[in-house]
Amino acid sequence: MLKNENYNKQLLIGLIITLVLLASFSFMLFDEDGRIVESTEHQDKESLLHGRELFVENCTSCHGTRGEGIVGPALNDKILLEEASDGVLFASIQAGRPNTTMPAWGQAYGGALTDEDIHAVVSFIRAFEANAPEVIVDEFIPSASRGASLFANTCFSCHGENGLGGVENADGTEVAPAINDTATLKKNNNDWYEQVIVNGLPASGMPIWGQTLSNNQVEDLIALIEAWRAGEDVAPEATVAQMLNSAHFSLEQSDGENALFYMDRAQPIAFGPLLGDFDSIRTDIESGKTKDALAAMTELRNAWPTGDAEAGEPLYQEACAGCHGSEGQGGVGRKLKPNDFIQENTNADLFAFTLVGREGTAMRAFDGVLTEAQLADIISFLRTWQE
Ligand code: HEC
Ligand code: HEC
Ligand code: HEC
Repeated sequence: MLKNENYNKQLLIGLIITLVLLASFSFMLFDEDGRIVESTEHQDKESLLHGRELFVENCTSCHGTRGEGIVGPALNDKILLEEASDGVLFASIQAGRPNTTMPAWGQAYGGALTDEDIHAVVSFIRAFEANAPEVIVDEFIPSASRGASLFANTCFSCHGENGLGGVENADGTEVAPAINDTATLKKNNNDWYEQVIVNGLPASGMPIWGQTLSNNQVEDLIALIEAWRAGEDVAPEATVAQMLNSAHFSLEQSDGENALFYMDRAQPIAFGPLLGDFDSIRTDIESGKTKDALAAMTELRNAWPTGDAEAGEPLYQEACAGCHGSEGQGGVGRKLKPNDFIQENTNADLFAFTLVGREGTAMRAFDGVLTEAQLADIISFLRTWQE
């Protein structure tokens, strides 16, 4: 009995010790958990703050202080954030978007940000997600000529001008096959081409474009391929200003016929108060007055593009004020009210300047971001500050 009692007592003590131990152990476990959560929270917070700092420094001039979008698209957009994985956002930031003003930020692409920096920026963009609005974007209509401009910048170095091939390695073999070949184009459908462009054929030297080009850019390329398949000639999108330059050059060579060819292409997309000049120049050319036509064309070319200053003001506030100040007082960018550079240059010069930007500075290219008519309106608005 006694033995038994003793045994029970020992058992009880053992049980109590176990319970105490368990309790303190689970308390320790709990504490440990808490510590882990706290330290990752701390790390996340650090990374988020770092991301925020980088975003403010590098991205707000185009994407807005709240990621609402200015010249770049909105990044606080629910649909984008739901559809794009961290990996996709990472790649867009690292490699940029060729043929747009979205620069490559990754060091591997000549940019300033390390992988860790980019992860931090991605986690900052993710933090928009909780309160992100749905941004409704205008319906996108693919364009073969925009596709041709992209092709001429991005694909021609391997596939040749107009996709006709003929680019050779040192040993005389072709770098890449011709794509603009009606027979081949008829063998494969658009889905196949989209697959090849998006996923590449990395083993044989065709790069993966899916993370470098936007869906819209791929659609433009498919529109180009469709036009080539139908045997069409597709000219890269050219501005009225470029075509007026070509027409001017033709008239200098006394080549009225070529000048008319360029004017035929320019006139349907020209706009604004100078539109009437097209007809008078055309009449001069057709009646053989090439000298008069050249003089009038020189004037038109220098004044082109002339826009609407009133329409230019809100555009300026949206696209330029972030750097140049809402009153043109300057900031990241120079003071524009007044500004010698604007006063000394023609509209055509200022237009060309805003299209390509100034290399190595924050003044970036607006080609493909604002239309020619929008830039014309902004330039006309800037003129009102020079009086
Ligand atoms: C000079 C203007 C400019 C700056 C500066 C800029 N971006 Fe962009 N960004 C753009 C444009 C324009 C696009 C759209 C490109 C296109 O049409 O595909 C874009 C696209 C993006 C996209 C892809 C969005 C989508 O819809 O797929 C991401 C992500 C992005 N930018 C992040 C950043 C981050 C992060 C920074 C700063 C480190 C930054 N951008 C700086 C202009 C800019
Ligand atoms: C660095 C060189 C290079 C660049 C730049 C390049 N490609 Fe390619 N591409 C190739 C090579 C090489 C092949 C052939 C791969 C094979 O046959 O397996 C190829 C194949 C293709 C094919 C399949 C052609 C066929 O009929 O089999 C398509 C379509 C294509 N590229 C489209 C594009 C587009 C569009 C671009 C620009 C966005 C582009 N490529 C940029 C190298 C390049
Ligand atoms: C991301 C910032 C940024 C944006 C957005 C921007 N600019 Fe600039 N801009 C600059 C900087 C920086 C310079 C000065 C570059 C240099 O140091 O040479 C500049 C220079 C200029 C100049 C030349 C001034 C001079 O005295 O040399 C003009 C004109 C100009 N910008 C017009 C525009 C217009 C028009 C827009 C909108 C369509 C615009 N900029 C948008 C940053 C910006």
